Amino acid sequence: MKTILVTGGAGYIGSHVVKMLGEAGYEVIVYDDLSTGHEWAVLSGRMVRGNINDTVKLQELLQQYNIDAVIHFAAHIIVPESVGNPLKYYLNNVMGTLNLLNVLKQCKIDKFIFSSTAAVYGIPSIIPVAEETPLSPINPYGRGKAMIEQVLSDLSFSNEIDYVTLRYFNVAGADPAGRIGEGKPDATHLITMALRTAAGLCPHLDVFGTDYPTFDGTCIRDYIHVVDLASAHLKALEYLFNGGKSDVFNCGYGKGYSVLEVITAAKEITGNNFQVNYTGRRPGDPPVLIADCEKIGNILSWQPSHNDLHHIIETAWNWEKTRIARYNG
Ligand SMILES: NC(=O)c1ccc[n+]([C@@H]2O[C@H](COP(=O)([O-])OP(=O)(O)OC[C@H]3O[C@@H](n4cnc5c(N)ncnc54)[C@H](O)[C@@H]3O)[C@@H](O)[C@H]2O)c1
Repeated sequence: MKTILVTGGAGYIGSHVVKMLGEAGYEVIVYDDLSTGHEWAVLSGRMVRGNINDTVKLQELLQQYNIDAVIHFAAHIIVPESVGNPLKYYLNNVMGTLNLLNVLKQCKIDKFIFSSTAAVYGIPSIIPVAEETPLSPINPYGRGKAMIEQVLSDLSFSNEIDYVTLRYFNVAGADPAGRIGEGKPDATHLITMALRTAAGLCPHLDVFGTDYPTFDGTCIRDYIHVVDLASAHLKALEYLFNGGKSDVFNCGYGKGYSVLEVITAAKEITGNNFQVNYTGRRPGDPPVLIADCEKIGNILSWQPSHNDLHHIIETAWNWEKTRIARYNG
């Protein structure tokens, strides 16, 4: 049985991957400082509380367990916050990852899966955006992720690591069994915000910009269900264990929905005609961001099975109701 270290495994995406790893028979060690994650979200394996910048704790952990591969989620993830406080992001997302990679090298652990983001593309001129597009991030969050992508490429070139980088597009939805989902009270993503507005936790939902060059004037994004994203990580793991070479894959569906389409679907599903405020554009929002996801299908044989906007919103809504009842908002 293989043992996987999952940093940030108590967070939104990490917890879905941890659950799936457990169901697939992997031994799981979660390493998380619980800065935004929750112990209740860890449904499989062992939870160790610690920070990726804590070299000694990481060394002790890796001496205690025989780790076969690492899936690295631990990071701060709020783009506007990264603009206001870049050092917070570079210290955690860049320095923390470098520290982790250094300890992995000392312990001779050389299989690594990295959570990257569509934010590394900035405002791409060709849609759908393919992996070979030159990276051009426009905020510290995206720049930090792009820096680590470069570091991984260099480490792979010097044969120190075999890695898969997954560039997530807009992650949404929740475990269909309703046990876990987005748990951050200050989550900023559209679907979560819309559902929390429908649930009465926010007075209204802001739409940033209605004059984009799209069919209804609002931004278009590629939403991927978190369970499909989790299965991409298991495919990446199998690929590395079977000797696959280091590579980078987009994770999306190759289909986009506008902000207004998402809001209409959220109103239908919740039965709540919540208030929407239309405001100006936010700096740095690309009009359209859709993944070219042929590569992940061809090389990792990944196939989505939750690629339906209504299903994504329904699972997120079921979870949101549970979350509010259980944790009082
Ligand atoms: N949510 C998205 O739509 C999205 C999109 C693209 C990429 N990503 C990437 O996916 C990963 C997971 O995102 P998420 O939405 O699950 O976020 P999250 O905040 O729910 O999860 C991050 C987890 O990492 C932990 N963590 C943060 N810093 C840590 C540190 N220094 N040491 C140990 N643990 C630490 C947090 O406690 C949390 O449990 C991140 O790397 C993020 O950049 C997310």
